[in-house]
Amino acid sequence: MTDITPSGHSSDHGNQPERLGYSPVADIPHKPRVTDIDPKAAKRAERQVASMFLLSIIFVILFVVAFVGIDKSTAIYIPVLGVVGALQVALGFTMGVAILLIGAGAIQWAKKLMPDVEVVQQRHDMNSEPEAAAEAAANYQRGKEESGFVRYPIIRRTLIAALALFPIPLIVLLRDLWITPPGESPEEELSRTAWHEGLRIVADGNFQPIRPEDIPVGGLVSALPIDIMEIQEEEHNLNARGKAAIILVRMDPDQIRSQQGDNWDYQGILAYSKICTHVGCPIALYEQRTHHLLCPCHQSTFDLADSGDVIFGPAARRMPQLPIGVDEEGFLVARSDFTEPVGPSFWERS
Ligand code: FES
Repeated sequence: MTDITPSGHSSDHGNQPERLGYSPVADIPHKPRVTDIDPKAAKRAERQVASMFLLSIIFVILFVVAFVGIDKSTAIYIPVLGVVGALQVALGFTMGVAILLIGAGAIQWAKKLMPDVEVVQQRHDMNSEPEAAAEAAANYQRGKEESGFVRYPIIRRTLIAALALFPIPLIVLLRDLWITPPGESPEEELSRTAWHEGLRIVADGNFQPIRPEDIPVGGLVSALPIDIMEIQEEEHNLNARGKAAIILVRMDPDQIRSQQGDNWDYQGILAYSKICTHVGCPIALYEQRTHHLLCPCHQSTFDLADSGDVIFGPAARRMPQLPIGVDEEGFLVARSDFTEPVGPSFWERS
């Protein structure tokens, strides 16, 4: 049963508080708040609360303005954090302040204007029976002794220290959510791969350069840039290999319905990224009769004879195509880097 008295006094506390270990509410003098006795103060508090809610609305509007108006590649320098994306800072700041103001307004409202009453809730005694309490204490004591937690102080202290430091790597990893290399936006970083004009294409596995005649019509070869191993070793860039991985497929040139650029094939050999544009699985399941490339992860299907367009599944983007040709010795080479980011979508991708 719950008694509420707007005056601040319990109406029914006569015989229970002592047994439950509570002080009778009626014995605590009720102190009215200034907003209870001064209508002007109450009006002021009302205006304060409303101002916070209004400011929150303004910050939500600023959030939308920042999202639309700030270029995604704009970077700013912030002491301690270094170079960060201006858009991310603006979105985080405006959204954070908007939420903070709603919270602060609600607290002020509750503290200054909502009814100020004392509430008495009667409860049964929650103490355990003495035998059950003694048994629980004995179990605890026995567990403590058997675990050796008290007997081996070095283990105890090192365990406590290890657990205390355990969250630190998680906090450090959060840094990667906003730090980008100086002068580079995430979009630039993710848009570039190891490919460039004239770079030989080698087979993934034996790293041998490939001639057009090595690929029969209907064939598929997984391939990489010739210098990918050096890039990996010198720059310690493990992502480079994944981003640059391609597949070469050969079809009758008459069956190519469209490409992502003029004559990006070489005699019917087409090069596409090997990384699915859904969530990035490597793909090499090719159906030579239909020219369909099937991703084994979630069954996205791409038509390689038609610009790599998505014809089925959850992928939202076509497979990026790499323009290719041959060098003076007749080996297949790239004619440039990819002209769009490879792999899954990301926030900055337009
Ligand atoms: S990763 Fe390819 S369909 Fe999901």
